[in-house]
Amino acid sequence: MASFMWNICLGVLFLAYAAKAAAPRRPVNVPFYRNYVPTWAFDHIKYFNGGNDIQLSLDKYTGTGFQSKGSYLFGHFSMQIKMVPGDSAGTVTAFYLSSQNSEHDEIDFEFLGNRTGQPYIVQTNVFTGGKGNKEQRIFLWFDPTKDFHSYSVLWNMYQIVFFVDDVPIRVFKNSKDLGVRFPFNQPMKIYSSLWNADDWATRGGLEKTDWSKAPFVAAYRGFHVDGCEESVNARFCKTQGQRWWDQKEFQDLDSFQYRRLSWVRQKYTIYNYCTDKVRYPTVPPECTRDRDV
Ligand SMILES: *[C@@H]1O[C@H](CO)[C@@H](O)[C@H](O)[C@H]1NC(C)=O
Repeated sequence: MASFMWNICLGVLFLAYAAKAAAPRRPVNVPFYRNYVPTWAFDHIKYFNGGNDIQLSLDKYTGTGFQSKGSYLFGHFSMQIKMVPGDSAGTVTAFYLSSQNSEHDEIDFEFLGNRTGQPYIVQTNVFTGGKGNKEQRIFLWFDPTKDFHSYSVLWNMYQIVFFVDDVPIRVFKNSKDLGVRFPFNQPMKIYSSLWNADDWATRGGLEKTDWSKAPFVAAYRGFHVDGCEESVNARFCKTQGQRWWDQKEFQDLDSFQYRRLSWVRQKYTIYNYCTDKVRYPTVPPECTRDRDV
């Protein structure tokens, strides 16, 4: 009886914890064409398993890419990707959100390939009002070509968080009160692409794409989208404040997530514009919101 009560206690504790920290369960097996369409080079995308799995390929003629049908103002956007294996030097796989106008907002993940056995780099960036220059670069703690991993962006009024699986690798806080623009009124579409960027991607452009290894193939799955869908020209989300990603627990990282973020900072960070004194003699204001800098 005692152990029975104990189990119930544990169960309740677990539920309380799960309700606090976890995002709602996401539907699996959402096929590509429900939320996405190819953007260019349609014949370089292959579909498997009823469109639940797709592969993008890059050869010396072209790369390819796809984009969401809908435009979104805030949400949680995620994709499972298995990066180009083997010799991927010179290739870039990107997963990003972007608005469509000239003073555009953008939230970027870029995966920079490498020679066989050498580590990928994950570069992230945030653009507001057409301006970027906020790069961060990390190595990963696993080989991203072996399995699918999820790469996601949480975007609400309070913060933009980049996650690799469940680990936050970067937080961009809304620092409007410090005079920093924050994306809030321009709907974004979700994009992904695979292309050749051997002029800069690998060791700053020293390592060139080896076309004898083509085609280079990246695999994707998990096409569910959790966002506030609005027309391209909408200025606000009609359900603002009511969706799960707007709630209290997603307005800041919790202490467990902050610990994981500092683990990434200490062990895997290669570059952070916030600590680049040459480029930014005065620390950019939003960086002061970053607990570890
Ligand atoms: C590729 O590997 C080299 C050597 O280990 C490393 O310096 C570089 O940061 C790696 N990644 C990229 C994308 O250049």
